[in-house]
Amino acid sequence: MSQFLSNCSVDALANAAQALKKGSLVAFPTETVYGLGGDATNALAVARIYEVKGRPADHPLIVHIADLKYLEQWISDIPEYAIALAREFWPGPMTLILLRSELAKDFITGGQDSVGIRIPDNSLALGLLEAFHKLGGIGIAAPSANRFGQVSPTTAKAVQEELGDYLSATDLVLDGGQSVVGVESTIIDCTGELPRILRPGATTVEMIEEISGLKISNIAEKKAGDFKHMDIRVSGSLENHYAPKAKVFLDQQPVEGSGFIALKSVDTPDGVIRLASPESVEEFARVLYLALREGDHQNLESIYIAQPTGDGLAIAIRDRLSRSAKGR
Ligand code: TXA
Ligand code: MG
Repeated sequence: MSQFLSNCSVDALANAAQALKKGSLVAFPTETVYGLGGDATNALAVARIYEVKGRPADHPLIVHIADLKYLEQWISDIPEYAIALAREFWPGPMTLILLRSELAKDFITGGQDSVGIRIPDNSLALGLLEAFHKLGGIGIAAPSANRFGQVSPTTAKAVQEELGDYLSATDLVLDGGQSVVGVESTIIDCTGELPRILRPGATTVEMIEEISGLKISNIAEKKAGDFKHMDIRVSGSLENHYAPKAKVFLDQQPVEGSGFIALKSVDTPDGVIRLASPESVEEFARVLYLALREGDHQNLESIYIAQPTGDGLAIAIRDRLSRSAKGR
């Protein structure tokens, strides 16, 4: 069982950074979802991340850094458009896949020539990263802090539920309240002439096209909200992922006794248990994973979801839900 820290003072962050430096794991909040962090240059720490998550070792991890000045060490090349995206959207819910430097070892990249990098937009995450850099740390590897294939945690309590049994006494869980975005970062492959979205998120296609001045090359998938063309290994792109215990049904008439998630404007059908009534697409993303967890807490057999329509963040929501609906 790990230690649970809800009072994250500067001292607490310095201690957490020390723990990382010694090879322990620190789960921390980001604006998207909570991450399970380890020293990205420490093979043993990274091996423990895989073990605690129960994740196959050939799935690459995202390296988190505090500032653009730490980017160069991790990469060997960066196209102009990626520099523009980094300047505009970091810190923020965006991960760039770039050609790796020698520093990004196979245990981070899953043996690929590229590395995923992100600067998160959350004061605790940035405080932890800064404290870690101060100790000579170069980056924190952090996948979402859930067991492999399950729903990402958006609160410290959810991290504890997911990983409490697998963390050890020297590991830490930092409590920074509820993640404000609620779905994982947009992953953009920047190893080609044009950006390609590998996982949609809150940094939307429209935002990326505007700042890069380029058309997203996987435009066919963009409309369908369906990004499963992958030739790169992205575990989040596996079909059955983001799945609660309950069976998830999309845009169907709910049966009695099942859970129901929909925008507030959608009435609750008779006899179903309303799990969330978000007022906007942003709120839908923010509460979605908690609502799925709540369905599991209530031991519901099935959860029916009326999906938000439209572009932007709604694409990310439908992407995750289509995978949730494939089950575990
Ligand atoms: O919002 C997020 O991105 C959260 C927070 C904690 O930052 N992290 C997250 O990590 O979602 P994870 O490991 O659960 O999902 C990251 C995805 C994985 O599916 C992984 O395969 C992919 O990013 N990825 C990482 N490095 C990659 C690379 N070099 N090439 C292709 N995909 C990569
Ligand atoms: Mg994940």
